[in-house]
Amino acid sequence: MAQEKTKRGGFGGKIAAILAAAGSAIGLGNIWRFPYITSENGGGAFILIYLGCILFLGLPLLIAEFSVGHNSKCNPIDAFSKIRRGWGWLGALGLVSVFLIMGYYFVISGWTLNYTIASATNSIGGNFGQFFTDFTTATWKPLIFTYLFIIANHFIIIGGVQGGIEKASKIMMPLLFVILVILAVYSLWLPEGREALANVFTPDFSKVTGKTFLDAMGQAFFTLSVGMGAMLIYGSYFKDGTKLAGTAISVVSLDTVVALTAAIIIFSAGVENESGMQLAFVAMPKVFAAMPAGNIWAALFFLLLGLAALSSTISMHEAVTSYFVEKRGMSRNKGAWIVTIGALMLSTVASLSLGDWSDIKLLGMNFFALLDNFTAIVMLPLLGILTSVFVGWLWKKEDMKAELTAEGGIDKATYPVIRFLLRYVCPVLVSIVFIFGIIDFVQNL
Ligand code: PHE
Repeated sequence: MAQEKTKRGGFGGKIAAILAAAGSAIGLGNIWRFPYITSENGGGAFILIYLGCILFLGLPLLIAEFSVGHNSKCNPIDAFSKIRRGWGWLGALGLVSVFLIMGYYFVISGWTLNYTIASATNSIGGNFGQFFTDFTTATWKPLIFTYLFIIANHFIIIGGVQGGIEKASKIMMPLLFVILVILAVYSLWLPEGREALANVFTPDFSKVTGKTFLDAMGQAFFTLSVGMGAMLIYGSYFKDGTKLAGTAISVVSLDTVVALTAAIIIFSAGVENESGMQLAFVAMPKVFAAMPAGNIWAALFFLLLGLAALSSTISMHEAVTSYFVEKRGMSRNKGAWIVTIGALMLSTVASLSLGDWSDIKLLGMNFFALLDNFTAIVMLPLLGILTSVFVGWLWKKEDMKAELTAEGGIDKATYPVIRFLLRYVCPVLVSIVFIFGIIDFVQNL
């Protein structure tokens, strides 16, 4: 056992833990998905509901997931079964979900590469919508960029926890914050930017439906990477003495600041007429094109998107790789290759489903949209309910308390609040939102 422990990788310290976990959280979810889901759901009203979900549901779940990982120090499947026999399937369900997410997430990540290069070389041309459609529906070009991204991701993973993930996070995250601040200052400096911003952040409650709550909750879970084993595996790499709740609060704060800042950058560009998943890809180049040295700004923006995506995909990949390494006894190299090849295949189908195979639809959605919607509005709420029930009700009370309050982690006054949120608030609220949201969704199909 002792030997098994020393064989496992781990993060060097507290800052590394925060940067890696924030890297997992901050991703396409913040910069690409949050602004467009917000604009589809009536702006300010959605943001308020979203912030409520982050604070009362996402944060306690993140703490719960860190604690399961840190307590058991193993891969997601063994982590659950170590705490309670027969519950390994919950870890497996998370891993299946994160694998499905990888399928479409890598495709968009690949787009960021093409857009960074195309912006830097000034070759997007004048018709941004057309460029987006031509590129994303093509057969080979998006696939090649997706594969390049997956391979970059692969090499970080085989570098190991400290030599790969930690090192990459320490370089990418500060760079990401710098780019974000530069872009935010620039967009708020434009007068039309401030005006458009006020419009978007003004709540419009007339657009709020059951589905709005489901979207807000799905987005909150997605952006915090909860329920899928990614945060669990990172928690398992935290050094002893890492304060779990403190780390979770730092991660949630950074993630929220980045999401709101990204929304400010995108909406201040006056993009009311754009919607859906092309928002970031069509609206942003258009805005930058009107600025001096616009192509450089655009390249910076897409570099930001790509970095954010990469620091998230390594956590997804790591969660699944850890299963092959620890449960199937494979070398890290072999385990990582299996995940990489699986991701290559799934993302190939996802990418083609936007072009050559776009006629194949289920519930009115192509495979790409299906992966996104199924994971965000079905799997994530389910995993949220199950994880909170597991930690709040099935984990031995004393053990959970010992883990959360270890080495001054959570003080006596705060601990009962977190326990209450996990036992009652999360399971009940997530179930209600899930059921009503699904009813609303099915009625509108
Ligand atoms: N949180 C990431 C984002 O916002 C996505 C993610 C989901 C990462 C699941 C890891 C696991 O983009």
